[in-house]
Amino acid sequence: MIYSRIAGTGSYLPEKVLTNKDLETMMDTDDAWIRERTGIKRRHIAADGETTSDLALAATSRALEMAELDADDIDLIVVGTTTPDKVFPSTACIIQRRLGISGCAAFDVQAACSGFVYGLDVADRYIRTGAAKHALVIGAETLSRITNWEDRTTAVLFGDGAGAVILQATDEPGIISTHIHADGKYEDLLEVPQGISNGYDVLRAQEAYIQMNGNAVFRRAVATLDSIARETLEKNNVDKHDLDWFVPHQANLRIISAAARKLDMPMERVIVTVDEHANTSSASIPLALDTAVRDGRIKRGELLLFEAFGAGFTWGSALLRF
Ligand code: COA
Repeated sequence: MIYSRIAGTGSYLPEKVLTNKDLETMMDTDDAWIRERTGIKRRHIAADGETTSDLALAATSRALEMAELDADDIDLIVVGTTTPDKVFPSTACIIQRRLGISGCAAFDVQAACSGFVYGLDVADRYIRTGAAKHALVIGAETLSRITNWEDRTTAVLFGDGAGAVILQATDEPGIISTHIHADGKYEDLLEVPQGISNGYDVLRAQEAYIQMNGNAVFRRAVATLDSIARETLEKNNVDKHDLDWFVPHQANLRIISAAARKLDMPMERVIVTVDEHANTSSASIPLALDTAVRDGRIKRGELLLFEAFGAGFTWGSALLRF
């Protein structure tokens, strides 16, 4: 049997930091409200002209270095992003060119905040079927470009960043199972209404920003993360107490804590980075993973659960031995 394992992780956050205090000078909000409702203290914001592929490339070079591989070794690139550099070509193709390689398949996956887990699911299947040996899976976003800085109900929640992993073919898992789902009927609760085929129009500028019903998204996220955790553990006959680390999508500390409680995981076994970089959508899980791998918390051989939830709605999970 062929499986995939994570051979290396990498991440990158833009230099510019925007704190809650900075936001107080821009809109009617306050540090205490943001911390209490979300757990967020600061977020990173891409510089003018800095693109999603810039962030992704920096994360990729760190992941390659940890995996002790060269760009030439990569034979599949999957990028989870909702903020691509361009309408086309895909950000994956742009990254491929910038890595100086060509020929391998490269494509983006658009699953909003679940983009990384969706990408991991796809790449794992390529490796299991023998179609790829070394897959680069990225979650990368410049959400600041689609944030309405005049809307305090959303502006305080998001940030920019990128995370990457190198998946490698191996003869024992690695990735034990991945689970991805969607339910398109919740479109209105979390969306950026402006697109391309529905009439791109600069006069509809307000529609080019994130719009969200925060309360409804919150309730749905908590319920869905509970069901995906149960599905994943039951499928593999794994007891929740056997998990070493829970690496959830970093949207809101209250959502993370609720999911951890249901898993009976103490917060010391939960990787939390939302305080430092806010919600970076598809980048948040690989950013959290890389942080905990590099600071020595997550070690080789440990059992990890990833969980994501995002616009669509989309949601997904991965159970893996690191
Ligand atoms: N600063 C200060 N006050 C704010 C504020 C801000 N940034 N944003 C909203 N408020 C106010 C509201 O206007 C409201 O005031 P009112 O009671 O006078 O009407 C009050 O705070 C409470 O608003 P509410 O929306 O009920 O707060 P909440 O407890 O639901 O928290 C969110 C709001 C957005 C933090 C929360 O709903 C949430 O995290 N939702 C999930 C969002 C998410 O993670 N989305 C991505 C999923 S991938």
